[in-house]
Amino acid sequence: MKKRIMAAALVSLCGVLGLSFATPSLAQKKDETIAGIEKYREMLGDDNPAELYEMRGEAAWKKPAGPNNVSLEKCDLGLGAGIVKGAYAQTPRYFEDAGRVMDIESRIAWCMMTVQGISEADMRKRPFGSADKPSLMEDLVTYVVTASKGFKIAPPNTHPQEKAAFELGQSIFHVRAGPYDFSCATCHGQDGKRIRLQELPNLTKAADNQRAYIGWPAYRVSTSQVHSMQWRINDCFRQQRLPEPKYMSESVNALITYMAVMATGAEYKGPALKR
Ligand code: HEC
Repeated sequence: MKKRIMAAALVSLCGVLGLSFATPSLAQKKDETIAGIEKYREMLGDDNPAELYEMRGEAAWKKPAGPNNVSLEKCDLGLGAGIVKGAYAQTPRYFEDAGRVMDIESRIAWCMMTVQGISEADMRKRPFGSADKPSLMEDLVTYVVTASKGFKIAPPNTHPQEKAAFELGQSIFHVRAGPYDFSCATCHGQDGKRIRLQELPNLTKAADNQRAYIGWPAYRVSTSQVHSMQWRINDCFRQQRLPEPKYMSESVNALITYMAVMATGAEYKGPALKR
């Protein structure tokens, strides 16, 4: 039933967006696109297709798997082995056993390797899925982050390595590189910027970081799938015309740490619905 309602909403969204592209003015287009997404949100009510990912993710979390044939229920996401509720809101953080700062995705991957015995090569095979075939990681991440709904974003930022990760992230944010000499700040360093129809948050400011950070992971209507924060950053490296970073690289984790610390205090509402 839910699936049918969502399919109907999608068709209607395409209609609204399709109409909007027939109008010439950019401002008008933008307003109509935003109105289209609003309408889509209204039709879904509190439903978000991310719920399907969450359900699959919970089942995968609890199912014995990997060479060790154990579930991820023994995984320590930072609040103690087996505690999922609220854990995402307190990441990225320094993990003693790994000796490094990890975001939620890196930590889940760590548990798949150390608890379940999955090889690093296997774990890295397909972190980002497609609309018709989501990745296991996307399901697991959606389950874990949804369990932080209602929690305030509160990465500890006290351990020297956590502080170092914040500083590294902040400096990477301002490094200009690539064929156009772009940095993250080129697109995300001023108020009121946008590219085509997309508003660009000013990620040097706490308020914009709060708004942006709680919007991820997200179900994107334009790609019909849930994307993780690692995906978001990788895709922005692409927008910066830089090679795609290695999955879970230190630089991506540092950027996520920077944004999470800047977003401290914002209430996480679960995976958002995005354009
Ligand atoms: C060439 C411009 C450009 C550069 C450079 C760029 N981004 Fe982006 N970024 C965008 C656009 C455009 C969007 C919105 C995409 C969309 O709506 O589909 C976006 C979205 C985002 C978002 C999500 C915002 C939200 O509210 O949902 C984050 C977070 C982000 N970028 C971080 C970064 C980081 C970190 C870097 C540097 C590694 C970076 N961006 C570099 C253009 C850029």
